[in-house]
Amino acid sequence: PKKVRIPYLHGLKQRGEKWAMLTAYDQYSAEIFDAAGIPVLLVGDSAANNVYGYGTTLPVTMDEMLPLVRAVSTAAQRALVVADLPFGSYQGSPEQALASAVRMLKEGLAHAVKLEGGRQLAPAIELITGAGVPVMAHLGFTPQSEHALGGYRVQGRGDAAEKLVEEALTVQGAGAFAVVLEMVPAPVAAQVTKALDIPTVGIGAGPDTDAQVLVWQDMAGLRGGKAPRFVKRYADLRSELTRAASEYADDVRAGTFPAPEHSFEE
Ligand code: KIV
Ligand code: NA
Repeated sequence: PKKVRIPYLHGLKQRGEKWAMLTAYDQYSAEIFDAAGIPVLLVGDSAANNVYGYGTTLPVTMDEMLPLVRAVSTAAQRALVVADLPFGSYQGSPEQALASAVRMLKEGLAHAVKLEGGRQLAPAIELITGAGVPVMAHLGFTPQSEHALGGYRVQGRGDAAEKLVEEALTVQGAGAFAVVLEMVPAPVAAQVTKALDIPTVGIGAGPDTDAQVLVWQDMAGLRGGKAPRFVKRYADLRSELTRAASEYADDVRAGTFPAPEHSFEE
C-alpha cells in the first residue's frame, strides 16, 4: 500500500474528507491500526499515562519515548508516524527543539513531530520545518501545561476564541502541517478549521474538525474507570483480557491446561 504523506492529508482537507488518527506505542497496536487503514499514528507523550503509568504527561523523557517511536515506525507499513516531543525537550530554545526533533527521526524513525503551544513556539516550528522535519502543532488544552492552565478544562471559550484562531494561524504561518485542537468548544474548532488551510485534528473539539484523534486504550476500552466526555469506546478490551487471564489461571489450577495438544511427546 502507498505510504501516507503530508500532501495526501492536505488533499483530504481540500476534498472535505475526514480521517482518523490514533495513538500507538508498540508493534502490535501500530500493525493493527495501520492495517485497519488509520492514516496517521501518533506516538503521544500520553505514553506517560498509558504505557508508563504516570499520572500526567510531564515526567516522560526522550529516552522513554524513543524506543516506543522506533517500534511504531518499524511496524507501520503505510501510516505517517508522528512523535510527540515530551515536556522539557523543546521549550528551552528553537535549537533544543530542533535537536529533539532530529532525534525522533534519526533514532525513532518517525516521519514528523508534534509539540504543544502557539505563538511562543513559532520560532521552534520554523527552525524544525526549515530543517525538513514536518511539525504538527497542538492548541487548546495542552496537557504539558496542566498546572499553568489549572487542570483539565475546556480552552478557547468566550474572548479566548479569537486568540485561539490567531494562534492557529500563527502556527500555520510558521510551517506546521496540521494542528491538534484539544478540548475546545465545537463552534470554535469549526471556526479554526475554516480559517486554516492545514488540517485540524480534534479531540474533544466537536465534529467539524478535519480529523479526529483518540488515545487507543480509551477508544478500545482497555483503560478502566470513567472516560472523559470526548471518548467513545468501540470495544471492551479490559473485560476481554480480564476474562482471558482468569480462564487461563482457572485452567492451570484445574490441570486442564496444558492439554496433550500443547505438550510434546518423547
Ligand atoms: O499524547 C497524546 O495522546 C496526544 C493526543 C491526545 C492528541 O497528544
Ligand atoms: Na501529547
